[in-house]
Amino acid sequence: MATATSACNAMLLMAFVVAAALSTPSRAQSPLQYNFYANSCPQAEATVRNVTEGIIAKDRTMGAAFMRLFFHDCFVRGCDASILLDPTANNTQVEKKAIALRGYDAVNKIKAAVESDCPGVVSCADILAFAARDSAVVSGGFASFAMPSGRRDGTVSNFIEVLQNIPSPIFKLQELIKNFAAKGLSIDDLVTLSAAHSFGQAHCSFVNGRLYPTVDPTMNATYADTLKTVCPPPGSNGGDPVINNNRVTDPNVLSNQYYSNLVTGQVLFVSDQQLMNSSYTAAKVANNSADAATWMGQFAAALVKMGRIQVLTGTAGQVRKYCNVVKS
Ligand code: HEM
Ligand SMILES: *[C@@H]1O[C@H](CO)[C@@H](O)[C@H](O)[C@H]1NC(C)=O
Ligand SMILES: *[C@@H]1O[C@H](CO)[C@@H](O)[C@H](O)[C@H]1NC(C)=O
Ligand SMILES: *[C@@H]1O[C@H](CO)[C@@H](O)[C@H](O)[C@H]1NC(C)=O
Ligand SMILES: *[C@@H]1O[C@H](CO)[C@@H](O)[C@H](O)[C@H]1NC(C)=O
Ligand SMILES: *[C@@H]1O[C@H](CO)[C@@H](O)[C@H](O)[C@H]1NC(C)=O
Repeated sequence: MATATSACNAMLLMAFVVAAALSTPSRAQSPLQYNFYANSCPQAEATVRNVTEGIIAKDRTMGAAFMRLFFHDCFVRGCDASILLDPTANNTQVEKKAIALRGYDAVNKIKAAVESDCPGVVSCADILAFAARDSAVVSGGFASFAMPSGRRDGTVSNFIEVLQNIPSPIFKLQELIKNFAAKGLSIDDLVTLSAAHSFGQAHCSFVNGRLYPTVDPTMNATYADTLKTVCPPPGSNGGDPVINNNRVTDPNVLSNQYYSNLVTGQVLFVSDQQLMNSSYTAAKVANNSADAATWMGQFAAALVKMGRIQVLTGTAGQVRKYCNVVKS
């Protein structure tokens, strides 16, 4: 037991060292700044906010789409908008081929509005960061918070790196902690950011393993029964329906309801329920469940921290004209 624990601690420590080594150079050269576009495109953030608001007003599920895009962008070669690149003749195996995400057309729409303000100035990586922040504001009722900017867009997008870096919904707690540590994010950040699963959608295929052939004993039995009426058994030709992440309160509102759902076993993924698997994370879940305001502050701070992962700044990378294609 003691050996297993110290081996685990050593691995965690190594992951932190690696993450620190990876993130130091770009930060030392030219860190992100608050209001980076103050002179070059003063209306950029207002335009992103306005278009994002319009998109979410039309389709309330879109806040979750922007939030998840930002997460997947940052976890795969840093927040560089690599998730947005379309396949080309030269590179057919891009990131977006690995996992189906929503919201690509919506991001292009925001970019087009910003381009008409200030052509060639605002990166797609920053637009994604602003749109995720604005989604927390519009869909979560957060007071607006500053999102530092000055990210540049990358030119590389590789399918394999998604599989290597995006955590799996069947990960155990130690795997999740290690995955986040490799990005410089803490156990607190993991618990805090996981509440993004209070809104948006998921496919039954990610939950079926907890329903069939037998129900996962850590899942609320009543919840499992309800899910089974929507999610057909695998192999029954019932397809792969979409369900809401949050069935207890409004499924399009980002909130700390996620933590009450965890306590009552009403979350979709193994990776969600695993946050109850240590006394430390379970205590954090209880705290976040009891205190919405504190969780909101922590979520905003963790989102900003996530937005600093391995960013390209200064003259590295480029600013794309269209978010789905590299500028040649
Ligand atoms: C901790 C590890 C995580 C795992 C294993 C995970 C896994 C998943 C999975 C499997 C889905 C369902 C996708 C589908 O069926 O289409 C999902 C949805 C979602 N995830 Fe995560 N996720 C994690 C962390 C995060 C984080 C950190 C965020 C953002 C801060 C996030 C935001 C979302 C959102 C908003 C959705 C709903 C997307 C939509 O409505 O289209 N997730 N996640
Ligand atoms: C805000 O967005 C709406 C569409 O949702 C557009 O008609 C309007 O011109 C925009 N206003 C500004 C100031 O960008
Ligand atoms: C495709 O890749 C080759 C070799 O890397 C490069 O010379 C060429 O310019 C690329 N073509 C396009 C359209 O990007
Ligand atoms: C399971 O969920 C129901 C609501 O659907 C709730 O009343 C019950 O307390 C939950 N059970 C446990 C063990 O948390
Ligand atoms: C953690 O999960 C394992 C199974 O993965 C289980 O055996 C153990 O009892 C759980 N511990 C706690 C504290 O929930
Ligand atoms: C939970 O809140 C209590 C009371 O504020 C605090 O003492 C404790 O450190 C918190 N636990 C975690 C894991 O954040």
